Amino acid sequence: MWMLNGVETNTISVMDRGLMLGDGCFTTLQIRDSALQLWPYHWQRLVECCQRLQLLLPAQDVLVSHLKTMATGHHLACAKVVLTRGSGGRGYSSHGCNQQSELLTIQPFPEHYLQWRQQGVKLGVCQQRLGSSSMLAGLKTLNRLEQVLLKDEIERSGWPEAIVLNEGGSVIEGVTANLFWRRDCVLYTPDLSRCGVRGVMRAWVMEQMAALGLRIEVVAEPLSSMMKADEVFITNALMEVVPVTGINDAEYPDHALARQLQGLLATSPVT
Ligand SMILES: Cc1ncc(COP(=O)(O)O)c(C=O)c1O
Repeated sequence: MWMLNGVETNTISVMDRGLMLGDGCFTTLQIRDSALQLWPYHWQRLVECCQRLQLLLPAQDVLVSHLKTMATGHHLACAKVVLTRGSGGRGYSSHGCNQQSELLTIQPFPEHYLQWRQQGVKLGVCQQRLGSSSMLAGLKTLNRLEQVLLKDEIERSGWPEAIVLNEGGSVIEGVTANLFWRRDCVLYTPDLSRCGVRGVMRAWVMEQMAALGLRIEVVAEPLSSMMKADEVFITNALMEVVPVTGINDAEYPDHALARQLQGLLATSPVT
């Protein structure tokens, strides 16, 4: 099911700047028992993206009401909110864009994530590297060409997921997920000020650390240093927290913190 500016449809103008230029942003949410999981974090992402891209922020109550209508009756699904600058302007210029597009959809949940949560996942390491863009780093803009190429690389290599480095060789994230590793009582996650997507699940995990008695550090580290971890896991809004069982030939059998976080998510979901 698709909805454009509050009306059920599955067509959009061929002149929409989301299509022509990737001029917009999006967020993908998990729907569980009709509820919008981690909604406050997704909303915060939309607020930040709209500020940075100078898009108008939709009214939260109207957006939530449309999403809830679409989510009703779904036990497990994913929903997507796409905001574009709409049609108009000339070339890159956005003058004359008077109506933004708010596109909503509900889609089947990627069932393999349920198995990943239970059994963990083994990661490869991508050859292709992320470029730096301090203008857009952290945001979930519609420009996801790097991830399209990276996904193609891991599909050709036969990995389910993989670690992606930046051009300087620091670990940044997975192809579709954020990355964490723990050494003793310190949890590390990559600095995303130059590239990568600051995930909603990453934000949630970082907020749990104080209560769990762990320190969180945002770092720029090479793969060799990351691989000395006691435990590694990846996150996104749909997979939630997935233990990493191995990276190339190295094995990571300790999943204690990932299991603890999974327990927290199951017992006190944020909606
Ligand atoms: C490249 C990339 N990094 C990180 C994430 C995690 O973001 P979130 O936790 O908001 O789902 C995603 C999610 O799809 C992603 O595509």
